[in-house]
Amino acid sequence: KKVVLAYSGGLDTSVIVKWLQDKYGCEVITYTADLGQNEDLEPIKEKALKVGASKAYVEDVREEFLNEYVMKAFKFGALYEGKYPLATALGRPLITKKMIEIAQKEGADAIAHGSTGKGNDQVRFDVSAVALKPDIKVIAPVRDWELKSRDEEIEYAKKHGIPVPVTKDKPYSIDRNIWGLSVEAGPLEDPYHEPDEEIYSFTKNPLEAPDEPEYVEIEFEKGIPVAIDGKRLNIVDLVNKANEIAGRHGVGRIDMVENRLVGIKSREIYEAPAAVLLLEAKRSLDELILDRESLHLRDQLAIKYAELVYYGYWFCELREALDAFADKLNERATGTVKVKLYKGKATAVARKSPYAIYSKELATYDPGDTFNHKYGEAFCYIWGLPLRVAAEVKNK
Ligand code: ARG
Ligand code: SIN
Repeated sequence: KKVVLAYSGGLDTSVIVKWLQDKYGCEVITYTADLGQNEDLEPIKEKALKVGASKAYVEDVREEFLNEYVMKAFKFGALYEGKYPLATALGRPLITKKMIEIAQKEGADAIAHGSTGKGNDQVRFDVSAVALKPDIKVIAPVRDWELKSRDEEIEYAKKHGIPVPVTKDKPYSIDRNIWGLSVEAGPLEDPYHEPDEEIYSFTKNPLEAPDEPEYVEIEFEKGIPVAIDGKRLNIVDLVNKANEIAGRHGVGRIDMVENRLVGIKSREIYEAPAAVLLLEAKRSLDELILDRESLHLRDQLAIKYAELVYYGYWFCELREALDAFADKLNERATGTVKVKLYKGKATAVARKSPYAIYSKELATYDPGDTFNHKYGEAFCYIWGLPLRVAAEVKNK
């Protein structure tokens, strides 16, 4: 028997390698995806083999992650509960898909992950897996095992020769990829406690950010960012660059109490400088090119899109249908937006597009105005008609 394990190189997933062997007597193959978490994969691979994996896959999937997952949500401007750019949530279905492919290749009948039974991530792994391969077995040892505390886990690790971090590790649970970093637990569990500065790893404290604003120009083609300050970049380099520029101005810190799918409220801190910068720019472009009703409906459906992603429903027909909708509305999303970065804030301050449906002749209050003001009266009469009739009836 073989199982493919999503392996991060940390203590939990290292202990899981041994535990799976003990409990099921199975061969463990690890899979580690580079989603841009800024870690060397080679040592992770070595560690996997050292703690007993029979085979260790590592793979750079950053481009696929950005093109096939992140940019789809981006075309909607999707944010969970109005704030969270979904970095962790978007990564899980891709990792699951890759593990299923390896399972098929290696003849494994199960996959395993290190998520807990009270989180969202377990749902994304479990549900993505059965959506792709209904007969796959998903094992989540942390839901099942008898190791009740961190100390018991460390003891188990020592007993089995699994390296235990020597430094007292931070009390936080952290997940990072190129689109953002998610932090929970520890002191954050008190929603009235302001996060300690130490939890931020790639945004500057706005207090220490440059005293001069910086302007950055983002160019879009069909809804996708393609250039920064006139320099064309592939999507991976572009997002890295956006993280760096926005991060040094302290842009992208998000502090929220969110509703997990399992019904718990959870205090979460996100760091997503590129996401916040690029979403601000994209929004501004959309304001210029989309008609009112399209924009309003897009915004409503973006809530649904974010829910599907958050809830682990990536591999569903509705998500594909929504993608088709977003693709249509992004056909003309080509143009340039200038964003001002200053002390933790990214503000779009200028935008242009060959497809703008903005008309200065209609909008202007200066001479040259082509709008026929007389029509205003008739418009108001018709628009107000239902309310007028209702009031007349009421007053009778
Ligand atoms: N609450 C976020 C989400 O559900 C972040 C989860 C972070 N995961 C983790 N293993 N630390 O997407
Ligand atoms: C976990 O509980 O495994 C992490 C947090 C989450 O998935 O929401």
